Amino acid sequence: MADQPLALVTGASRGIGAAVAHALAPTHRLLLGGRDESALAELAGELPDASPWVVDLTDPAAVEAAVAGIGGLDVLVHSAGVARLGTIEDSPADVWRDNFEVNVVAVVELTRLLLPVLRAAHGHVVLINSGQGLAAREGWGAYAASKFGLRAFADVLRAEEAANGLRVTSVFPGRTDTEMQQAVVAGEGGDYDPEKYLRPDSVAAGVRTAVLASPDAHLTELTLRPRPVR
Ligand SMILES: NC(=O)c1ccc[n+]([C@@H]2O[C@H](COP(=O)([O-])OP(=O)(O)OC[C@H]3O[C@@H](n4cnc5c(N)ncnc54)[C@H](OP(=O)(O)O)[C@@H]3O)[C@@H](O)[C@H]2O)c1
Repeated sequence: MADQPLALVTGASRGIGAAVAHALAPTHRLLLGGRDESALAELAGELPDASPWVVDLTDPAAVEAAVAGIGGLDVLVHSAGVARLGTIEDSPADVWRDNFEVNVVAVVELTRLLLPVLRAAHGHVVLINSGQGLAAREGWGAYAASKFGLRAFADVLRAEEAANGLRVTSVFPGRTDTEMQQAVVAGEGGDYDPEKYLRPDSVAAGVRTAVLASPDAHLTELTLRPRPVR
């Protein structure tokens, strides 16, 4: 419906981003961010008012052109991310660059370009961070450092934009049953048991709670862990 607020969800083609799109669909019009046009078109077809927003977030010219078409925006959810893992010894500079390019630089630049419309709406920026953005472990150096950087960005954005009425929420999920987690577990050489992990729609429910918080409330940080299997 035209009078519903508009949300842009990056990484909406699958995983947590797709679940966030489903969770916000009853209350928001949606722009579905990602590179996989057919996956985004399929998801858009399942939702009441959603359109694909096809862009590679590491392509500055493409991002600028895509943002130019957004005349107003209430909610920006950053779910796009990559996880290139490895020990420090096994992680040359391109591994660090890839993690930082998508998980930090692309998030910062997209947010920066959208600040005027977000300010106008007294909007909300939600950043899907990670447990690795709170405590880094061995073998996760470049990814964890990128998520620590993302957390710092969120904290600074929240402070700088408070006077403009922006809300900024960092969400810190533990391991979640997505293609990213399947690749992580394959890299670790373990068996994949989805029952051990959070469901994407559980993370999305947290995002929805933050977005739909009463106007006086600001959920600044939200940590979700898989419930221990009994
Ligand atoms: N899964 C977990 O266990 C877990 C835990 C904690 C935090 N997280 C975080 O949650 C977020 C979502 O992860 P996920 O598990 O849902 O991952 P996923 O299933 O691998 O999905 C990643 C999404 O990011 C998009 N993306 C990646 N690079 C992009 C680029 N250059 N331009 C545009 N879109 C790009 C992908 O779009 P394409 O279709 O274009 O590839 C895809 O939609 C990430 O930030 C991740 O770090 C995940």
